[in-house]
Amino acid sequence: MCSLEQHYSAADIETRILAGIRAAGLDTDRELSPAELGALDHFHTGGLQASRELLVMAKLAAEHQVLDVGAGLAGCARLLAAEVGCRVDCIEMSVDYCTGALLLNRLTGLEERIAVRQGSALEMPYPDNTFDAVWMQNVGMNIAPKQRLYSEIVRVMKPGGRFVFQEVVAGHVPLSYFPLPWATEPAHSHLVNTEELLSVLEGCGLVAERFEDVSDTQLGTNVANSTPAPEGQLGLKIFVDDLAEKAGNARRGLEEGQIRYVRGVFRLC
Ligand SMILES: C[S@@+](CC[C@H](N)C(=O)[O-])C[C@H]1O[C@@H](n2cnc3c(N)ncnc32)[C@H](O)[C@@H]1O
Repeated sequence: MCSLEQHYSAADIETRILAGIRAAGLDTDRELSPAELGALDHFHTGGLQASRELLVMAKLAAEHQVLDVGAGLAGCARLLAAEVGCRVDCIEMSVDYCTGALLLNRLTGLEERIAVRQGSALEMPYPDNTFDAVWMQNVGMNIAPKQRLYSEIVRVMKPGGRFVFQEVVAGHVPLSYFPLPWATEPAHSHLVNTEELLSVLEGCGLVAERFEDVSDTQLGTNVANSTPAPEGQLGLKIFVDDLAEKAGNARRGLEEGQIRYVRGVFRLC
């Protein structure tokens, strides 16, 4: 799974992150910008660049209340809060990622605009009709009950709200290379193909404003944040074991038609 492969104490995880940031030459005594942390905290295909492109597609505004589902270290939430000025709620299953997200929010001075809650995307602790937009990057591939996931997303969205996402979907050939960045073994991977994804989204009342397969673009082929950063540079290696092997398997899977990368903006009608 994408969660940390080892559980750390809150103090350990903070120490680990701070050491990684300082080793990359960043001064943690000054306020850091979300972009400076981008190689560490955008844990998805295409990294920070993919988030920026999705942000342009999302057309969010400062007055919007946004939910980031499976927020990880909340890199996307900080990008939204800093560049759009909106308030972002994060829901994240892993306690360790929540601890890391809170630390990075503090280091970037964005803790007032970003709330982090530990919990499941399948049972979110928010009332109906709360959010103007729900953001989700590379999370659904770890969650088997798709109908329940997307129904829950729709439940917390206001009518007319937007669902903004990026996802890994199944290709026409079964997965065969493991470990992958999101699954060390087949039982942890829950990919559906594009048709199945669209069917469940539409069945939940979401209408596509934009939907695209980016597998063959630079974004899909440059598995940016899955490539181990060189020594002295910030990267996911702080958290993820065997990153080179996992990234290599994802690349082979893409080349051989086992996986595709898609993204979209859907409106709740
Ligand atoms: C590949 S990471 C993506 C993190 C973040 N969205 C990003 O793009 O940087 C997938 C995240 O989904 C979280 N996740 C997986 N299943 C979840 C669930 N049922 N509820 C909440 N979070 C979940 C994992 O803990 C992990 O942080």
